[in-house]
Amino acid sequence: MSYAADSGVCLDRILASTDLSGLTKKDATTFTRRLKAHFPRLFEKYTYVYGHQYDCYFHLQKLVEILRDGSKNRKPALKKLDSQRLDSPLWYRDEEQVGMACYVDLMGPTLNDLHGKIEYFKALGVTYVHLMPLYDAPKGDSDGGYAVSDYRKVNPTLGTVKDLEKLADALQKEGINLVLDFVFNHTSDEHAWAKAALDGDKQYQNYYYLFDDRTIPDQYEHTLREIFPQVRRGSFTFNDQMEKWVWTTFNSFQWDLNYSNPEVFNAITSEMLFLANLGCAALRLDALAFIWKELGTNCENQEKAHVLIQAFNCCLQIVAPAVVFKSEAIVHPDEVLKYIDKDECQLSYNPLLMALLWNSLATRKTRLLTSSMKKSFAISDACTWVNYVRCHDDIGWTFDDAVAHEIGINPFDHRMFLNQFYTGRFDGSFANGVPFAENPSNGDCRVCGSLASLCGLEGALKDNDAHGIDEAVKRMLLLYGITFSIGGIPLLYSSDEIGKLNDYSYRNDDSKKHDDRWVNRIAVTNEDTQLALGVTTPSNPAEVASLKVFNGLQQMIAIRKQHAIFGQAKTHILETDNQHCFAFLRENTEGEKLLAICNFSEHPQSLSRSILATLKESASKELLTGETVEINASALVLAPFQQMWLLPA
Ligand code: GLC
Ligand code: GLC
Repeated sequence: MSYAADSGVCLDRILASTDLSGLTKKDATTFTRRLKAHFPRLFEKYTYVYGHQYDCYFHLQKLVEILRDGSKNRKPALKKLDSQRLDSPLWYRDEEQVGMACYVDLMGPTLNDLHGKIEYFKALGVTYVHLMPLYDAPKGDSDGGYAVSDYRKVNPTLGTVKDLEKLADALQKEGINLVLDFVFNHTSDEHAWAKAALDGDKQYQNYYYLFDDRTIPDQYEHTLREIFPQVRRGSFTFNDQMEKWVWTTFNSFQWDLNYSNPEVFNAITSEMLFLANLGCAALRLDALAFIWKELGTNCENQEKAHVLIQAFNCCLQIVAPAVVFKSEAIVHPDEVLKYIDKDECQLSYNPLLMALLWNSLATRKTRLLTSSMKKSFAISDACTWVNYVRCHDDIGWTFDDAVAHEIGINPFDHRMFLNQFYTGRFDGSFANGVPFAENPSNGDCRVCGSLASLCGLEGALKDNDAHGIDEAVKRMLLLYGITFSIGGIPLLYSSDEIGKLNDYSYRNDDSKKHDDRWVNRIAVTNEDTQLALGVTTPSNPAEVASLKVFNGLQQMIAIRKQHAIFGQAKTHILETDNQHCFAFLRENTEGEKLLAICNFSEHPQSLSRSILATLKESASKELLTGETVEINASALVLAPFQQMWLLPA
């Protein structure tokens, strides 16, 4: 085996023995052209990870066959989309883009029912719908669908693959992109591969990390983080049938795939292409930080995890270039950035912004937000952030400890405070949240709760406190407003848009009660959407608040879409002379500018007008109120929780 083998020679040999007769002439030409363009990179990545294995080239050849089959199965409409997207690859940086993530059963409750929700998406301005995992999964607890038993089968309670394709088509016709999950770190223990492993099939046992005794697991566990300490301690689960320990980073029924085996890479590529060919615009790479294990490390964000994702990206470029990757790396900010690259993940969740928005709401201070964004917001122009406030998961207090230290914040104590604050254990807190994954060994804890409950709506409604309700609504609009304006795709989490409260019913469900994230997985009913769309009128304070949130978000989204400055532009994070205010300037290549200033406190705040000088005009127009702001007046005053979107007048 020659490690330095020329990739061109290798590809020629592979092609010489690959049967392309199943492809049309045109498809064969496109396939070969794209393969030639991307194979050198794919070859480099693949041999980097698998080159030391005697059968590396055998598997590489098999991989090319998988890519060929993926091309063959790509529908003409999607091939058309491939060329369109190759012509305008930066669609995801457009001001038009607004996302929503939802569970099919909580919005539908079936895929077919979602056709009826398209009007609702459109009314809000949503152009990107992420349907959380809808694949076949174990009955009962399936980690909300993130334990996949069959990537090629839709969970029968939601519909069929045909229904999904029909929906993808209908969404596409309305200009809405479909985003699906690619859950590739693990399968459920009911996946055919896991079942074969359970039956003792050695080939499939090699698809997972199995150990005869605790020797090796113990060595790994020295340095591993526990993700769900409330369900099981450690990262391994003993399986009675095989009498082996299985690597299970998440729940015990989610078996980590063994990517040191090239067969696993190939098999998962085939599943990935199946999903890409259903007609989605992006794949959300679930738990991507965990896919490579290296003894002596925390087995997160390892170099080879990046190389593997780049290799998957090559495969996508060859077969389905219309599809981009979205990174779900909920890890240290420096590590989050490393996944973001045109050749790795073009999109990435922005967990740092998310966590620090909540931090600023609790502390009414913006120092940590400002310093952290200054350090970590800038990314490649070919990529974009997906900015969110809430999601189906917990909130982890991710920020760089070094940045906290620099401004005199003790990170450990501060995280403790945030947990106390958002679980309502801190005197004077407005939030109703639930602690999640408390780790008795090190005191770690995260927080669950809906946008509205964490912003104080639940408590204020209970106390019949009109002022508190008003403040809660303003907090929600402030946080989302920042995701609409700071740069990137804003991603609404369904049920946030109508300010729904925590749903505690999971506590009566045996398959859910151990996982408090269910408190923020909330149904959006037809009554909710009718209220939002103005078909019905609000009849109680909760509904009045819901409608205010919906209308407020709708208005901001509409404004976002009217101004190119919310699309492709650079963001400069600014210092302000008021510790309660956060500000940034957006600037595009056309010379357009937008200055956003946000007040995180419940009191009016003033700041010096010198900040307006960044707009280089004598007056500016505030987009949310339509008012003109003069530069030369005295101090600039922001009302409680007000945000200003200022354009040069
Ligand atoms: C991701 C998902 C989360 C799931 C985990 C394991 O973090 O968002 O819901 O539990 O991956 O798949
Ligand atoms: C993730 C994260 C963890 C998160 C969890 C889902 O991948 O690393 O912080 O909370 O999975 O709950």
